Amino acid sequence: MARSPACWLIGCLLVSALGMVPPPKDVRMNSVNFKNILRWESPAFARGNLTFTAQYLSYRGFQNVCKNTAWTECDFSSLSKYGDHTLRVRAEFANEHSDWVNITFCPVDDTIIGPPGMQIEVIADSLHMRLLAPQIENEPETWTMKNFYNSLAYNVQYWKNGTDEKFRVTPQYDFEVLRSLEPWTTYCVQVQGFLLDRNKTGEWSEPVCERTMDDDALQPRAQCEECGLSLQTISRPFYYTKVM
Ligand SMILES: *[C@@H]1O[C@H](CO)[C@@H](O)[C@H](O)[C@H]1NC(C)=O
Ligand SMILES: *[C@@H]1O[C@H](CO)[C@@H](O)[C@H](O)[C@H]1NC(C)=O
Ligand SMILES: *[C@@H]1O[C@H](CO)[C@@H](O)[C@H](O)[C@H]1NC(C)=O
Ligand SMILES: *[C@@H]1O[C@H](CO)[C@@H](O)[C@H](O)[C@H]1NC(C)=O
Repeated sequence: MARSPACWLIGCLLVSALGMVPPPKDVRMNSVNFKNILRWESPAFARGNLTFTAQYLSYRGFQNVCKNTAWTECDFSSLSKYGDHTLRVRAEFANEHSDWVNITFCPVDDTIIGPPGMQIEVIADSLHMRLLAPQIENEPETWTMKNFYNSLAYNVQYWKNGTDEKFRVTPQYDFEVLRSLEPWTTYCVQVQGFLLDRNKTGEWSEPVCERTMDDDALQPRAQCEECGLSLQTISRPFYYTKVM
């Protein structure tokens, strides 16, 4: 028997009076270095605790990544890094569920470039820096953001600790020397990745602060005598040590 429009309307009103399951709120992708975490807020719902199911669209249709989870996040890091993906999440309660909330996400375009690593060595009044591309967690140990972005380069900014004036350098390679700094002065250094071909900058690393020394603090290392060389045979000191 066909339902009359009136019955259909009453049915709708009844369902909404009982409280249909509201969809997840504030659905967003938080992706840093291809670690892709879909997050959302649980909507207000008086009848009990909601669960959530999150899916992505593959050529075989929608696939569950998180099913009936009580968490308000789901890890989509295993998605292919290229192409646009359609993701969706809905709320569930008993046998009912909300509408899907859909988002599109393209990892290689949308992921945030996390802070690079940095190793600093103080040599006299210079800071020698080695910059390390951000690592990608879900890939083998040696994979970094550089494997996916050929144009990955770095911005370095540094300043005298306690001052506001910041200096910028753009290293040509993964190595940079800040020379002729003021001796016995604490400098702080920060680095960020950037993609030249996409005009996209990444997150700054936490500042690392180091105190410079003085040129006068350089002496040939005494231990060189132990390795069979006398100091006289060394025309230029090639090892330095700090004189306290
Ligand atoms: C809802 O979740 C809270 C916290 O996780 C729990 O304490 C509570 O018992 C749950 N309520 C029901 C009806 O399952
Ligand atoms: C999400 O996409 C489905 C089709 O895949 C559509 O039926 C639904 O209305 C969309 N939801 C929203 C909130 O746009
Ligand atoms: C930087 O300067 C502040 C005061 O301006 C001081 O408290 C802090 O210890 C200094 N940090 C380093 C690493 O010297
Ligand atoms: C690069 O992006 C910055 C803002 O992020 C903008 O000011 C600048 O004009 C852009 N440069 C180019 C060449 O598009």
